[in-house]
Order: sequence, then C-alpha cells, then structure tokens
Amino acid sequence: MTSYGLVMTTDHVLQVTDSRTGRSYELPIVDGAIRAIDLRQIKTSDDDFGLLSYDPAFQNTASCRSAITFIDGDKGILRYRGYPIEELARRSTFLDVSWLLLNGELPDKAESAAWAREITQHTYVHENIKKFIDGFHYDAHPMGILVSTLAALSTFYPQAKAVLDKAVRDEQVVRLIAKMPTLAAFAYRHALGLPYAYPDDDLSYAGNFLNMMRKMTEPKYEPDPVLEHALDVLFILHADHEQNCSTNAMRSVASSHADPYSAAAAAAAALYGPLHGGANEQVLRMLREIGSVDNVPGYIDRVKHGELKLMGFGHRVYKNYDPRATIIKEVANQVFEVTGRNPLLDIALELERIALEDDYFISHKLYPNVDFYSGIIYQAMGFPVAMFPVLFAIGRMPGWLAQWEEGMADPEQKISRPRQIYVGCGLRHMDGDSA
Ligand code: CMC
Repeated sequence: MTSYGLVMTTDHVLQVTDSRTGRSYELPIVDGAIRAIDLRQIKTSDDDFGLLSYDPAFQNTASCRSAITFIDGDKGILRYRGYPIEELARRSTFLDVSWLLLNGELPDKAESAAWAREITQHTYVHENIKKFIDGFHYDAHPMGILVSTLAALSTFYPQAKAVLDKAVRDEQVVRLIAKMPTLAAFAYRHALGLPYAYPDDDLSYAGNFLNMMRKMTEPKYEPDPVLEHALDVLFILHADHEQNCSTNAMRSVASSHADPYSAAAAAAAALYGPLHGGANEQVLRMLREIGSVDNVPGYIDRVKHGELKLMGFGHRVYKNYDPRATIIKEVANQVFEVTGRNPLLDIALELERIALEDDYFISHKLYPNVDFYSGIIYQAMGFPVAMFPVLFAIGRMPGWLAQWEEGMADPEQKISRPRQIYVGCGLRHMDGDSA
C-alpha cells in the first residue's frame, strides 16, 4: 500500500533488482502505472539522489489523473466524460459539450439555456483590445494576434489572479469561452482592413462567430444553417484531446498559479506549431503544392524517402484511424452541398487512398488525423488558411479550461517542474581563478 494524500491499495507490484547493488524493491502498480517518485528509493548509497525515469517528450509518462477525456489510440476511440465523440457530434452542441467537459455531465434544458445566456453576455471585449489589435501589421498572422490578445486580457481582469478561488475561476471560464470567437474574428477583420463586427446576442455560438467574420452592410447577418451546424460540429471535435502539447502547456503554466489568460495564451502558442494545431494550415499548403492528383505518387515517394512529412497524417496516440477524421469527412459532404466541392478534396482523397495501401504508412501506423480534412472544409467555407489554427483554438478552449480546473482542484498537483539529466561540463574555473 502506498499513500500520496490519497490512500490507494494495490495487489500488484513491480519487482525490480538493481544490478548495481543487488538490492530488490517492490513498486506498487496502480491503474497500470508505477509512481516515478517510488524509483527515488533505489540508491547506490545514502547520499545518492536516487533513480530517475528519463522520458523526453513524455512518451510514456502520465502527468495527471484525469476524468475528462478517454482515448484508445489503438482502437480509434475518443470519449468526452464517457460519451463517444460520434454521439456528441451528432446530437449535442458545442456549448453543451463545453459544459460537459467542465462539469462532468451534460446540462439539462434549463442549465443549457442559462449557460448559453451567460456565454452570450460575455462576448464583448474591452474597446482597448481593438486599439491593441490595430497596432499589428496588416499581414500579422491571426494566431499571433490571438496569442497576444489572450495574454492581454489578463491585464483587463487582474482579479483573475485569485486562482485558488473557485468562484473567480468560474468567472474567467465563461469569459474565455465567450470572448474567443470575438478575438478570432477581430484578428481576421484586421487583416482585411475591415471594421470590426460586434457580437449578435440572438445568434448561436457558431452563428455569432460567422456573423463577426462576415457581416458587411446588412442590418442583420443570417448564417447559413448548414455551415453554422458544420462549424459547431468542428468545434465539438476539437474541444478536448487529453494531455496533448497545448493542454500540457495550459496545465504546466497554470501550475505556477499564473492567471488563466496567461496560461491560455501559452496553450494557444503551443497549438500554433505545425506539428499540432498548425497542421491544418500546413495540410492546405501541402495540397496546393501537390497541385493535382497525378502528382500524388511522386509526393508520397518523397515522404517515404524522408524528405517531407505528410501533414495531417500520424499521431502520438492514434495508431488507427482518428475518429474525428471520420466524422469530418461526413461534415465535408454536407458543407460541399452548400459551397460546392473543394477541388483539393480529390488530391486529399488520392493521398489517403495511396497512403493507406502503402507499406511505409501501414508499418508506421500512420492514418489521417483531425487536421487532414478540417482545412478542406474551412477553405470551402471561405476561411483563409491562416485562420485554420485559430478555429482549432476556439474549439479547444473549453478543453484547456476543464483541464485547468481539474489540475487546480487536484490535491496531488504541484508546480510543474521536471528533472533533467545533466550532461554538461564538470566543475571548471575561469582563467586565473582556481578556488
Ligand atoms: N509523415 C511521414 N512520416 C511520419 C509522419 C508523417 N506525417 N508522422 C510520423 N512519421 C514517421 C516518423 O518519421 C517516424 O518514422 P521512423 O520511426 O521511421 O523514424 C515514425 O513515423 C514515428 O513518428 P514520430 O515523429 O516519432 O511520432 P510522434 O508521436 O513523435 O509524432 C506527430 C506525432 C503528430 C507530431 C507526427 O505524426 C507528425 O509530425 N505528423 C504531421 C503533423 C500533423 O499532422 N500534426 C497534427 C496532429 S493531430 C492534431 C493535434 O492533436 O495536434
């Protein structure tokens, strides 16, 4: 039995023998894991620091116990709070799913309506945010603007620093979910030199976002219901994905008790990278570069020779088809009925067909991930390529916040602080100094 604040019993132990000393140890196995800190007792002498586990890029390290999202990467399963992603995408809404992630249960009708109302009431941003955005160059990447404006929000809500107060945390959760579409749409309109369009309280979360992106001179913007629904489903698919790079950034930064705006800015920055949420943008650039279906085999050869990566393929966790990619393909068909078929789709389908039959991709267990098709839909809907990671970030915000809340409430969590294996110089001295 071992105790770390929680009392845990176990019948199973890992028996290890240290060949340096010949001593044996029994390390409890709980939930399929040993505690890395249990390794510390394994020492060669009393003044030895104790054994560390070395895990660059956290390939086999659980950083927390979480009840939010379940993934079985071998079977291609994704569930939020136990509900299959397919059911949520078909039958729920992004705001209800956000509630589910944050509270553990789907809201009832009254809770759902009150939650939507609360979010709607916080969509406006301080007018100074507009001045701040105006300072960016006309061709500033909207993800750079989003990261900066998220961090800037912390200066408007200094009380958010009281992160140990649950009521204060709840208030920032509402603000962050509510203001994401506004920040995103403002970043977009800045790039086009268009006046900012303000939120419309009558519209749904996705509908209002389309309104702020698209509204021109019409007195009231009416979103296309198919596109509005498709966007809502895309947000649901992106809402959480357990301990990915950006979520880890959110938890890690927040573990120092930084306010959630600063932590969310860090998470968005992590998402920006082309190996993570920036991949959807890179997929589009790749499909354009390939240019035609005839060029697909040649491109695949270059990937197999290690010259390039196939963007939108592969995943740290999924070693099977990403279930989100399956749903996105269905959504794509609905969108194309309204927008017309995106010509890049044929190149994507051919890439997928060849890759899924090819030994290299089969043996490396590389399948299309969420980003492979999402960009094609976004482009068909008229979003510029640079906005794709921003759309990912809007969807991911409730997940970051649910993970933040879980981390803050977890008595086992402390400031996130990995160890290292020092491989640098031993003690040495500057010229003329030997002491
Ligand atoms: N194209 C070609 N080969 C690949 C690819 C790819 N997209 N992804 C992985 N491989 C190969 C890689 O070269 C390595 O081969 P080998 O063992 O022969 O050296 C093997 O597969 C394992 O790859 P890895 O880089 O060690 O795997 P990882 O778990 O560290 O990386 C990944 C996961 C998603 C970063 C990677 O698959 C990748 O770069 N994919 C392209 C970018 C992408 O689509 N990212 C979006 C991920 S899904 C959305 C999200 O959650 O962010």
